[in-house]
Amino acid sequence: MEYVISFIIGVISLIKFTYAQNGKVIKLPTPSFKSSISIEEALLYRRSKRFYKDLPLTTQELSQILWASQGISDSDYKFRTCPSAGALYPLEVYISILKVEGIESGIYKYTPEKHEIIQLYKNHKRDELYEASLKQEWVKWAPVVLIICASFYKTKARYGERGIRYIYIETGHCAQNIYLQCVSLGLGTVAVGAFDDDEISKILNLPKFEIPTYLMPIGKI
Ligand SMILES: Cc1cc2nc3c(=O)[nH]c(=O)nc-3n(C[C@H](O)[C@H](O)[C@H](O)COP(=O)(O)O)c2cc1C
Repeated sequence: MEYVISFIIGVISLIKFTYAQNGKVIKLPTPSFKSSISIEEALLYRRSKRFYKDLPLTTQELSQILWASQGISDSDYKFRTCPSAGALYPLEVYISILKVEGIESGIYKYTPEKHEIIQLYKNHKRDELYEASLKQEWVKWAPVVLIICASFYKTKARYGERGIRYIYIETGHCAQNIYLQCVSLGLGTVAVGAFDDDEISKILNLPKFEIPTYLMPIGKI
């Protein structure tokens, strides 16, 4: 019963959040499914990178990274690049854009089904994100920071307390995809787990039951 109520509250809060957004929608270019680097090389060269060149990412690079994070890989069944317990897909990817060619800075949210991003705020909120992540410099200066969040109500409604475990496992799948995609694109990233959950939730004005699980700054190296 507790889970059913939490599911209903979660859905209402998500609907309210979605309707509150009327930001600009940006259709992303189609991602590429070919690479000059093998999966073995990507695994070999994957390293956490915390310092980036002061250069913007391209929209193609942003498109590729978001597709790797949660993109649709089977349009018939809406399966994604990451596995998900019960195919519930509780992860939501937010993007703080400081510098991407052709895209205004701000905070955006990724819509996997349409492969587009929607602007939520015109402010990239980097100073606040930096403070909320214990003053980690890479969060402040990276051209792009992905903020992976999870709708706990979705997975808990089906799996109860075990759903919490599944959320963190799924976040790991998503982060590893982003790491490997970055290697393939010649970009660097680092999985940032040290941050204040409540502060990040306030900065993004997250719907109730959506909780941040990882920050991933990304830039050219
Ligand atoms: C759960 C988790 C949390 C992490 N949190 C941070 C963090 O807050 N800041 C940071 O700079 N690196 C963070 N890291 C990255 C680790 O420091 C890094 O993976 C480790 O030093 C091994 O280096 P490698 O990733 O280059 O192999 C985190 C990694 C994991 C798996």
